[in-house]
Amino acid sequence: MKKGEKILFGIVIFLIVITVINFTVLESVRRNSEKPLFPILTHFNFTPEGLHGYEIYQHSNCYSCHRAVGSGTSMGVSLDGLGSKHDENYFYHFLKEPEKTYGAKTMDHGLPPKDAAYVSDIPDADLHSMAIFLSELKADQGSSSAFEPPKGESSFIDAMVDMWAPDGWRTQFKDIREWLKSKTEEEKQNATH
Ligand code: HEC
Repeated sequence: MKKGEKILFGIVIFLIVITVINFTVLESVRRNSEKPLFPILTHFNFTPEGLHGYEIYQHSNCYSCHRAVGSGTSMGVSLDGLGSKHDENYFYHFLKEPEKTYGAKTMDHGLPPKDAAYVSDIPDADLHSMAIFLSELKADQGSSSAFEPPKGESSFIDAMVDMWAPDGWRTQFKDIREWLKSKTEEEKQNATH
């Protein structure tokens, strides 16, 4: 081997060794730690109708753009947890008349030639079943698809709000964290009465 080849070969071997060490350490930490490395904040518990909707979903090519129940593509919109944001009624109307329902410009759902235009032509009964399935994809508080932010104070969220929210937003919008606080206090008071 020439000198240059030896150096290149050495670098490749070095990178492989580093990768193997990293993987082994990460795996052993993951196996031995009691808490999951990444908490899973979405869950589902399907009713028979929801399960039927899931089967229709699996045969309707939604996977090519979406991710749900842990499978599908990660390139598109993840549907896991969306059932904590919207209800069955919303999902049905979104699938049937996306442009009217979405409240923003749509990219793929809508009229032809959009790529997911075929979805509105799926028979009504199947759209209803898929809407039930979607409404059963729940998210826990603090998940990125949940309506409620994580429990407790977060200096990270405070810093992000300070940095990115437009000036004077408090006069135009409600801080959901304040709203949640007043809601839980109300519930406590109701419980003591
Ligand atoms: C060609 C890609 C594509 C296909 C196929 C597709 N979708 Fe979508 N979907 C999108 C995109 C992109 C969005 C975001 C809205 C938009 O821009 O159209 C979306 C949004 C959604 C939403 C979220 C609506 C909201 O308000 O957050 C749901 C629910 C949904 N799709 C369900 C489905 C179902 C069910 C199928 C299969 C019957 C399907 N999609 C097939 C691309 C696709």
